[in-house]
Amino acid sequence: MTPQLRVYVPPHPLIKHWLAVARDAATPSVLFRSAITELGRWLTYEAAREWLPTVEMMVQSPLDSCPGTVINPEIPVAVVPILRAGLGLLEGAQSLLPLASIYHLGIVRNEETLEPSCYLNKLPEKFDPQTRVLITDPMLATGGSMMFAMAELTRRGVDPSLTRIVSVVAAPPALQKLSAAYPGLNVYTAIIDEVVNNQGYIVPGLGDAGDRIFGT
Ligand code: PRP
Ligand code: URA
Repeated sequence: MTPQLRVYVPPHPLIKHWLAVARDAATPSVLFRSAITELGRWLTYEAAREWLPTVEMMVQSPLDSCPGTVINPEIPVAVVPILRAGLGLLEGAQSLLPLASIYHLGIVRNEETLEPSCYLNKLPEKFDPQTRVLITDPMLATGGSMMFAMAELTRRGVDPSLTRIVSVVAAPPALQKLSAAYPGLNVYTAIIDEVVNNQGYIVPGLGDAGDRIFGT
């Protein structure tokens, strides 16, 4: 079967709740930040299904031994937050993946051309090809920033089929580009909004995620 991009919008009341809080223009920065943290937590919880590597073992309870399943410590797990806004999702993701290595990638769009450029790259030279990679960025708009991130990761040996993107609002232009270039990829998002306006903002979206997280 040909692999294809999968986009999951988990029908979870907590995800819907925190999305509505984040969308509200009247939400102050401190609460917006909490909403994004919670979305990071619950979307990572969903993304970890059938992705976090496990290993079977026997466990001795006080009464008897029985089979158990634990997280396999031998397979590397990495989280790549796309600065700045992806940092907002990191705390929630890290609370569920405490042993993951965190590799920061700073990408910013030019406000006029919308072209992405990279100002910080803490990725390793080479990833173990088995590495499970979770990328966090709340906004997938034109897709330029995420395409840039994926190119940097795959150049370093990351397998797109072992990669999961956690976003909050995803738009069709980004999903179409990712689907064409990385058909094995999985995206977890709170919502898909249909429109990207001429300034590159998702409508209704939630505005400038980085500015709202950091109060700038
Ligand atoms: C925002 C957002 C994404 C990017 C999405 O970052 O966090 O990284 O835009 O847009 P795209 O899909 O059209 O590339 P921004 O460049 O505003 O930087 P920031 O996170 O520092 O605010
Ligand atoms: N980046 C944002 O922060 N918001 C958008 O709507 C699009 C890109």
